[in-house]
Amino acid sequence: MKLSLIGTTMALLLCGAAAATDKAPDEAGAMNLLKASKCMTCHSIDKKKDGPAYTAVAEKYRDDPEAVATLTDWVSNSHPVEIDGAEEDHGVVNTRDAAKINNLVQWLLSH
Ligand code: HEC
Repeated sequence: MKLSLIGTTMALLLCGAAAATDKAPDEAGAMNLLKASKCMTCHSIDKKKDGPAYTAVAEKYRDDPEAVATLTDWVSNSHPVEIDGAEEDHGVVNTRDAAKINNLVQWLLSH
C-alpha cells in the first residue's frame, strides 16, 4: 500500500492530469472478474499454484513501463503455458469490457 502511494504521488508530480488514474483499483470488481474467469484455479494472490502468485507478478512488472500493455494482452488473449510439462491454454478474462480489464491489471500491479 505504501509503495502504491509513492507511485501515485510520483504520477501526480510527473503529470498534472493524473486525476483519472489516481483512483485505487476496485478490489471487489477485480476479484469478481478473477473468480468468474476461473483464474483462481491456477493462481492465488500470494502463493504459487500452477501459475505464479499475483504478488510475484506485481513484483516482476514493478519497473516495467510496458506492464499495463503486456498484462492487458496476457489476460485478454490466449497464450500457451506449460504446466507440469504439458502445454495448456492460459485462461482469458470472460469480458471484453476494457474498463474492467484495465481495473484488473491495475489491481494486479498494486500487489
Ligand atoms: C490453467 C491454469 C491457469 C489459468 C486458468 C490461469 N492462469 Fe495465469 N498463469 C498460469 C501459468 C502457468 C502462468 C506462468 C506462465 C509463464 O510464466 O510462462 C501464468 C501467468 C499469469 C500471469 C503473469 C504473466 C507474465 O507475463 O508473467 C498473469 C498476470 C496471469 N497468469 C493472470 C491470469 C488471469 C487474470 C487468469 C484468468 C483470466 C489466469 N491467469 C488464468 C496458469 C493459469
